[in-house]
Amino acid sequence: MRLNESRRNYYTQKAKEKNFPARSVFKLAEMDKKYSLVKKDDAVLDLGCAPGSWLMYLSEKVGPSGKVVGVDFQDINIDPRGNIIFLKQDVLEVKPADLKKVSPFYQAVLSDLSPRLTGLADKDDAVMAEYCQKTLCLAEALLARGGNFVCKMFESEFSAGFFQAVKERFSFAKRYRTRITPKRSREFYFIAKGFGC
Ligand SMILES: C[S@@+](CC[C@H](N)C(=O)[O-])C[C@H]1O[C@@H](n2cnc3c(N)ncnc32)[C@H](O)[C@@H]1O
Repeated sequence: MRLNESRRNYYTQKAKEKNFPARSVFKLAEMDKKYSLVKKDDAVLDLGCAPGSWLMYLSEKVGPSGKVVGVDFQDINIDPRGNIIFLKQDVLEVKPADLKKVSPFYQAVLSDLSPRLTGLADKDDAVMAEYCQKTLCLAEALLARGGNFVCKMFESEFSAGFFQAVKERFSFAKRYRTRITPKRSREFYFIAKGFGC
């Protein structure tokens, strides 16, 4: 068994043991531990939230007085929790006004959106870039001053330009590869803090 595969199996097993529906929860937990992205009582937007492991993590982290709004066009697969609001919708069609009805401002906007891969790199990269742009637009419309941002991206011709756009809007911005991401993967996250500061 190759190392990457055995590492993936390890995290899948670990997620199962803790009742998370996806191992990607460990990516968020790692980024949050390192950069303190979410805290008690926050309102958080989670784009591409299904099957729901980030939602579970966030629900616990923000607590009963916080709110977590998840958006995905697929169903989630977790037990209901009072502080989670799920919108079954295409993210590209989400309007800030609908999200403002839940909370006028958000302390964090996160995206783990992944397009259905076609295998045609140009096409997949363009969709991913569109998802990142949409995430940044929603962040601009919804984030409270000082708010935080996490956005999944594939290394591509669009990543440098998008990073520049993120840097212009936040006081801190970084590209980050999680430990669980396979070495050969082009996936990484933009992490940014201090919106509008
Ligand atoms: C890697 S999964 C997210 C895993 C999630 N963070 C978790 O921990 O359970 C990526 C998600 O993006 C969603 N997605 C992709 N394109 C979308 C779109 N246009 N609108 C809504 N959801 C989308 C997929 O349905 C999928 O559930």
